[in-house]
Amino acid sequence: MNTSYPIGIFDSGIGGLTVANAINKVLPDEQIIYFGDTQHLPYGNKSNQKIQEYCVKIVDFLLQKQCKAIVIGCNSASSVAYKSIVEKLKNTTLVINVIDPVVDYIISNKSIEKVGVIGTNATISSQVYEKKITSLRNDIKVYSVATPLLASLIEEDNQQLYKTGIIESYLQNEQLQNIDSLILGCTHYPLIESQINNFYGQKMEIVSSTKYIGNMLKNKLTNKNLLHTTHRRLQHEFYVSDYTKNFQEKTKLFFPSSIILEEENIFS
Ligand code: DGL
Repeated sequence: MNTSYPIGIFDSGIGGLTVANAINKVLPDEQIIYFGDTQHLPYGNKSNQKIQEYCVKIVDFLLQKQCKAIVIGCNSASSVAYKSIVEKLKNTTLVINVIDPVVDYIISNKSIEKVGVIGTNATISSQVYEKKITSLRNDIKVYSVATPLLASLIEEDNQQLYKTGIIESYLQNEQLQNIDSLILGCTHYPLIESQINNFYGQKMEIVSSTKYIGNMLKNKLTNKNLLHTTHRRLQHEFYVSDYTKNFQEKTKLFFPSSIILEEENIFS
């Protein structure tokens, strides 16, 4: 494995771009190959088996591109497919998910006692956050609420729909009334972080993988002697299973310099 090989990142759509952007900020000399499975989004409403099947195909594609590490930039896929991907790769390639860096932060923060989690049906029904957090700190209470419409709403990016109060009505859920921090358990949600902050009058601690994933990846690459340390000119590559203009626009928002975006049919 060569340090110049790229980092593969994937999600169902644009959500993982928040992860790619965070990684690019911490590791600007690493090339990114991104795959957005826009043909199958939202993942959160699919069965575990289907999500796992999609992930296998995407991981194969990223391996063909010689990725030295794979970042599952999706909570739904991290919840239900991380173990099977790790088993499939048998330690040949570094795999990281978006849940572990958040859990590490939560358990290290002594002032957090009651944490809320919002995410897709797949993530929330897996109870992955509860299980991981309480196995390490049983004094922390975790309150999870599925917010299944949000990922599609964010993909759509329809300002009129935001105004209908969907975000607020999810946050008014009884489960989330006494929390001291809120985990954005879906990589799409940092794109509506300002609306969520406004709902709480900027007083809630909002926790998302985007703040921690870059450093986690950096440490893991360093430990495996895979970090690319010298400055270089990079061309990131973005692929989707179904081209949409929205994806193109969102990619440009995070990666304004010229990008390669191609539709790639890896599922036929
Ligand atoms: N961004 C993804 C997640 O973190 C997927 C959302 C979806 O496709 O349902 O769960």
